Amino acid sequence: MNTFIRKSVQELEAYTPGEQPKVEGLVKLNTNENPYPPSPAVARALAGFAVDSLRLYPDPVCSALRGRIAAVHGCPAEQVFVGNGSDEVLRVCTRAFTRPGGAVASFAPSYSLYPVLAAAEEVGFREVPLADGFAWAEPPADLEASLFFLANPNAPTGVFYPVETIRSFCRRFQGVVLVDEAYVDFSGGRDCLELARSLPNVLVCRTLSKSFSLAGLRIGYAVGSAELIGALYKLKDSYNVDRLAQAIALAALEDLPWMRDNANRIAATRKRVSAELEKRGFRVIPSASNFLFVEPPAGVSAAELFADLRKKKILVRYFPGGRTGRYLRVSIGTDAQMDAFLAAAGF
Ligand SMILES: Cc1ncc(COP(=O)(O)O)c(C=O)c1O
Repeated sequence: MNTFIRKSVQELEAYTPGEQPKVEGLVKLNTNENPYPPSPAVARALAGFAVDSLRLYPDPVCSALRGRIAAVHGCPAEQVFVGNGSDEVLRVCTRAFTRPGGAVASFAPSYSLYPVLAAAEEVGFREVPLADGFAWAEPPADLEASLFFLANPNAPTGVFYPVETIRSFCRRFQGVVLVDEAYVDFSGGRDCLELARSLPNVLVCRTLSKSFSLAGLRIGYAVGSAELIGALYKLKDSYNVDRLAQAIALAALEDLPWMRDNANRIAATRKRVSAELEKRGFRVIPSASNFLFVEPPAGVSAAELFADLRKKKILVRYFPGGRTGRYLRVSIGTDAQMDAFLAAAGF
């Protein structure tokens, strides 16, 4: 026990990110990264970036980028917060929308960072177990939480909840609902932005890490009422998004057709791999994201298959225990990578 360290930090179980292997030659399907390169507009922006400008601090409120995001989503810039990855957006929201002794809620299973953020903020964490097949379960009316993290599509399951279901929940819930749309570009054009633009307690969070192939850049953002967004600006680091990231993200957001083609390509591979896995006896949870949550055929343990794939140089994600322990989460890679996975997982 080191008394220099705050008790809640000593007790904190840190978030475990997916493995980033040091060795070459692995088929990496474990962290839902995009297998394709970012838009050529990104390379052009990098080549044209004025290195000398790095002497200067970045724009603290990302004005140009914020304006572009606002234009893309048809809202005023005051309704957009830009963060250092959507993980930062989620962390700042946890601070802004909870009070001492309060709590955050989310479905179970969902993104495993949510409980860590609550613990770091020293607030409670309430889990609402999903229904069979990881389908929507109506959160109880007496749920004591002032912030609900609602990933849609959900992670690690990939399930998409209907927008109308979310709308009626947001109308009933007494706190802030943060709809985490990290994977929504793979969902065929459905999203909750209209809820964020029209309801005072809804924020939508997006990231450039997945559909824009920019996980290494760290850009995420939130859209919602100017009042909620203003609270996030009060709490962020002074210069939370660096100059380079602002410039590159702006270039990427100028090329939406590239992002859409990329997302459609991944959705097509997802459809093909789902069908192949079903033929091989896997149970595949219907996915609207860039990954599949799959239960191996009867008699095959997910933990053993995970280890076996690792030996064959295929890296997928395994969340031991509880309801997730019977499944593997497999990110959608290129067609060649998925063929290697299918061959290695073949029965
Ligand atoms: C549901 C969900 N939200 C947010 C994130 C974080 O994204 P970012 O790279 O923008 O921090 C992830 C990353 O895997 C995720 O699965």
